[in-house]
Amino acid sequence: MSSTDPQELPSADELAAMSREDLVKLGAKLDGVEIIEYPDPFPVKGTRAEKRAERLVALWFLLAAVAGLAFAGVFLFWPSAYKAPGTSGYDLYSLYTPMLGVTLGLSVASVGVGTLLYTKKFIPHEIAVQQRHDGGSTEVDKATIIAHLADAGTRNGIARRSLIKRTAGIGAGAMGLGVGVFALGGLVRDPWAQTDSPNSLWHTGWQHKDGEKVFLRKDTGDPEEVVLVKPSDMDAGGMETVFPFRESERKDHEALSAALKRSDNPVMLIRLRPEDAAKVIKAQGQEDFNYGDYYAYTKICSHLGCPTSLYEQRTNRILCPCHQSQFNALEYAKPIFGPATRKLAQLPIAVDEETGYLYARSDFTEPVGPAFWERKS
Ligand code: FES
Repeated sequence: MSSTDPQELPSADELAAMSREDLVKLGAKLDGVEIIEYPDPFPVKGTRAEKRAERLVALWFLLAAVAGLAFAGVFLFWPSAYKAPGTSGYDLYSLYTPMLGVTLGLSVASVGVGTLLYTKKFIPHEIAVQQRHDGGSTEVDKATIIAHLADAGTRNGIARRSLIKRTAGIGAGAMGLGVGVFALGGLVRDPWAQTDSPNSLWHTGWQHKDGEKVFLRKDTGDPEEVVLVKPSDMDAGGMETVFPFRESERKDHEALSAALKRSDNPVMLIRLRPEDAAKVIKAQGQEDFNYGDYYAYTKICSHLGCPTSLYEQRTNRILCPCHQSQFNALEYAKPIFGPATRKLAQLPIAVDEETGYLYARSDFTEPVGPAFWERKS
């Protein structure tokens, strides 16, 4: 436009008197655009081909709507309470997150495909050559481009394609449900419900029930073989991975197996060397969580939940292999390197005087893994 001689521009009166088609042509000319082809996609209205194209676009928008509603249905009604692998209901529970992803993904993709098809089928496939120019747009530019857009709208017939308009509205609306769920879902489905349920995210498998002691158990590879831990079983500087065990579940194959599989159950039991034990700094309020030189920390990394499976005896560091976070076992497992910002949760332990086995005095009292509990406050 900046290259156009102002003498060639129409006056305000001339501009107001021009038809939309004239304005389109003028706009192209003033922009140095040579329109080579500007075909109407369906010059004869109401043909079978046009109706077919319209139905195809509408079908995708309808699919978006169905998938969006399915997403809402899955979010509201699919069983989402945690089930350990191998327990009844696990198969359905394990599909919860994938189903949310599939339905929302299908809804978004369908809106995208519908929009693409609409553009391909109904927007005139203009072929034009345009010169580049610098600077902002003039009033003439603005008037002509608006006319151009309005003309394209008329030619692609969106005003009279009510099937497409309605299905696009329904599809986009249902897809928008997915976005709404993130903001409003918590009002419909309370994530803080089931606080006392064993499946609540507030508890791990170390939760105490009916006053029964929860012992520390090794995993021998056989769920039926219960091997509990006595302090004398471990050498100084040693580490053992342990899981919860209740005497009442000794004959319950499903419970025994589930305890070994539940993701927030694994605990790293560390026996510090005597010379290191003297240097320990304890977390406030957790001064009695250890039993002598024995400290029990969750194996679930506070960064993104990987297993912190390495304990380096020489440096007393607990390492997470995922993103290299390191925690100091001598200072309440606080992070000293890497992306983790919170300490590893510590399990309070003691020795059962009757049997001599180590047991957990309670469930964890702080968040295990990524900070779910902290989000409430
Ligand atoms: S999950 Fe452990 S460092 Fe990222």
